[in-house]
Amino acid sequence: MTKTHSQYVCQQCGRVSPQELGKCPRCGEWNSAVEVLVTSKSRNPSQGASASAMSNSRPLRLTEIEGDPSDRLPLPMAEFGRVLGGGIVPGSVILIGGDPGIGKSTLILQLAAVMAGVPGKVLYVSGEESTHQIKMRALRVVGDKSTIPDDLYLVTETCLETILSHVEATEARLVIIDSIQTTHSAELNSAAGSVSQVRECAARMTSLAKATGIAVFLVGHVTKEGSIAGPRLLEHMVDTVLYLEGDRYHTYRLLRGVKNRFGPTSEVGVFEMGQSGMTEVTNPSKAFLAERFAKAPGSAITVTMEGTRPLLVEVQALVSKSAFGNPRRTPNGVDFNRLLLVTAVLTRHIGLRLSDQDIFVNVVGGLNIQEPAADLAIAAAIVSSVEDKPVTPDMVLLGEIGLSGEMRAASHLTARLREAAKLGFKQAVIPSSAPRERPFLDDLGITRARTLLDALKPSLRPQ
Ligand code: TYD
Ligand code: MG
Repeated sequence: MTKTHSQYVCQQCGRVSPQELGKCPRCGEWNSAVEVLVTSKSRNPSQGASASAMSNSRPLRLTEIEGDPSDRLPLPMAEFGRVLGGGIVPGSVILIGGDPGIGKSTLILQLAAVMAGVPGKVLYVSGEESTHQIKMRALRVVGDKSTIPDDLYLVTETCLETILSHVEATEARLVIIDSIQTTHSAELNSAAGSVSQVRECAARMTSLAKATGIAVFLVGHVTKEGSIAGPRLLEHMVDTVLYLEGDRYHTYRLLRGVKNRFGPTSEVGVFEMGQSGMTEVTNPSKAFLAERFAKAPGSAITVTMEGTRPLLVEVQALVSKSAFGNPRRTPNGVDFNRLLLVTAVLTRHIGLRLSDQDIFVNVVGGLNIQEPAADLAIAAAIVSSVEDKPVTPDMVLLGEIGLSGEMRAASHLTARLREAAKLGFKQAVIPSSAPRERPFLDDLGITRARTLLDALKPSLRPQ
């Protein structure tokens, strides 16, 4: 029988000590020691694991190894499935990160309910809420008692060893740990949520998944900067990393894939948080434009890419005279530096006087646009607000603005324009450098612009 004990390893220089020391005696680094479990057979746990695995291993021809894409468990939630690349791969470990309160537990409970019975039993382990609380939530998001599936098991537990025995006893094929930060192994002395605990618990769940083919979902809170035991620590250990994002004060939530060993990354699923949990938003462009007031000055529409999916979004700007000496630039949903760049180009190349004006820019729906293709829409919204003239309502604006006031191409232009046409837009302004050969859609009038000035003219024509 192997015996285990814990020891502390400095993350900086690798010095091993039996107790936790504030400062490493070798490299002088503070709080760099991390607790690791050691089995008496080997001093280094990772070496020990690989050595024992090696003794049973045998190289196989790739053709001899079983497994094909149809092994994925189909997911009845299309938006979730799209982010995972079509379904859940048995034996995979999926991390769902996000801010506290963003809706991770809600979404994962809904997933648990629709997946119950598909691969077999589903075990939902919560370390944060009582089974009574979860039942109340389940009734809210799944429906009445009769619709709660029989194969959905629930337990409130934080001890990893007990969780593993529950998994065995229930013979669950899908296990959800909510959250990895509240789970702790009895074999380690450190507190739940510490680097060593989070790493150890995730490693044990990963080996369980690989050995048995059980799919494991780990929920992780993104901790504030400075706190290290967040999901980032786990990203390299798991197969798939998804982040649930969104503005807590808006109802839309984006489930974004940032790592996926079995499918595409940077895919996005869109959900709306409502009274009865998360509902899938199958036509997000339409949803994001639902409250648009087309004739209002200071509003422009662009198409942003979220993974391979084009999304129509409204960019709003409000320009008003500064009350104080220093004019303010307040971006909400766009990058601060891009806003500064756009205002500088507008001042220098269009001759707009903005030095005594406060500028507020907002992307409607709580979306965050990072890509420069939205530059033109930001510029048009600002000019439209300054001149108090609406942007042509059925027009989308696409393109990055260069420092000399030139328009630069945006990627995936055809996909973006197709989405705009699908939602009834009739005109588009795109950079003249965009490829010409591809036929764009007939019912979309395209204006090609070489400079920012050329691009703004058709969009702010007198109506
Ligand atoms: P939760 O899933 O507990 O967040 P997390 O697990 O990421 O911390 O979601 C909490 C928030 O969601 C809470 O503010 C209430 C809200 N909510 C709804 O708006 N509708 C619902 O049906 C549910 C269950 C929660
Ligand atoms: Mg939660």
